[in-house]
Amino acid sequence: PRNYTISVIPGDGIGTEVMPEGIRVLEKAASLYGFTIEQQWHDFACCDYYAKHGQMMPDDWKARIGSPDAIFFGAVGWPDTVPDHISLWGSLLQFRREYDQYVNLRPARLMPGVPSPLAGRGPGSIDMWIVRENTEGEYSSVGGRMYPGTKREIVIQETVMSRHGVDRVLRYAFDLAQSRDARHLTSATKSNGIAITMPFWDERVEEMAKAYPEVRTDKYHIDILTAQFVMNPDRFDVVVASNLFGDILSDLGPACTGTIGVAPSGNINPDRTGPSLFEPVHGSAPDIAGKGIANPIGQIWSASMMLEHLGEVEAGKAIMRAIETVLADPKLRTADLKGEADTVTCGKAVADALS
Ligand code: NAD
Ligand code: IPM
Ligand code: MN
Repeated sequence: PRNYTISVIPGDGIGTEVMPEGIRVLEKAASLYGFTIEQQWHDFACCDYYAKHGQMMPDDWKARIGSPDAIFFGAVGWPDTVPDHISLWGSLLQFRREYDQYVNLRPARLMPGVPSPLAGRGPGSIDMWIVRENTEGEYSSVGGRMYPGTKREIVIQETVMSRHGVDRVLRYAFDLAQSRDARHLTSATKSNGIAITMPFWDERVEEMAKAYPEVRTDKYHIDILTAQFVMNPDRFDVVVASNLFGDILSDLGPACTGTIGVAPSGNINPDRTGPSLFEPVHGSAPDIAGKGIANPIGQIWSASMMLEHLGEVEAGKAIMRAIETVLADPKLRTADLKGEADTVTCGKAVADALS
């Protein structure tokens, strides 16, 4: 039979609550669709590990992870005990860079029966893929802090864009747009104000667009783009953005579909020179952690994306059908979607709905 090995890293807070539901659904999918998943659980990349070891991951974390077919990740961060930039640069952001996961693929889709906070929007009116650059851009370690604590204090952090780095994520986004019915790509920019990197981004988009004559291409400055996500979300199909802009859009898009709790992501290395990582878009949600009420759909949808990446396309699609069935029923969905279910009830319902 087909056999896959995955690294399982639950992380912090609700990461540890939604991960078992993702695993439950993966195991059910494996048994129904005739493949096996070997799980290698890791206790690092979380703030408990930091408390014991003074760092987020062991020095030999790469060797410990080895060469799995994919990494299944929960959420990391516990700002009460570890500053966020330390916990995140010590874990998730390292994975993205070290494994060259240069695409962060984040869908936003309004599901049947789910109430959108946008009045009058029904299923089909929000169905987009956000393609976020994931290894460079505004997330950079180039810069510094001078004269700390004095009145002369200065902080500088450079945005880094390479032609190679921009072109490869644009190519991925154009390929995706080309494969979709709408064949529409929107680029997020800010070339009116950010006058060096963003005009470069626009130039690369224009250049790449020449190779995709069938894809209708447009661009919006990020400020009005956020407004358009709320006013006219049906205008968007594939949206490509730099690291920071993509981060913001990928909370906003899913929020327009009812909650960020359903949103999945694939941190993808399309060249397959290292494992890709699948995780919900949301974080560790300290405000609801420990209560058992977190929405597990973001984790479960990430499992679906992971299976499609592994080649188990039918199983991935089956998970999506099960998610739609469950989300349409207020008794089976969680409180963030005005439902009555807790995390485990919702996760079990998806596993039961799988066929
Ligand atoms: P967050 O996504 O954890 O939470 C934002 C809000 O959304 C909270 O009110 C939370 O209760 C709610 N929420 C999030 N996921 C939910 C779910 N599945 N079901 C129901 N409600 C949900 O963002 P934050 O509060 O800005 O960050 C908390 C911590 O998580 C920080 O340490 C942050 O750095 C980290 N973080 C990690 C990731 C990641 O691991 N990929 C992503 C975002 C934030
Ligand atoms: C995300 C998160 C991370 C990011 C944080 C936690 C560093 O918000 O995955 O969207 O900004 O990429
Ligand atoms: Mn984010």
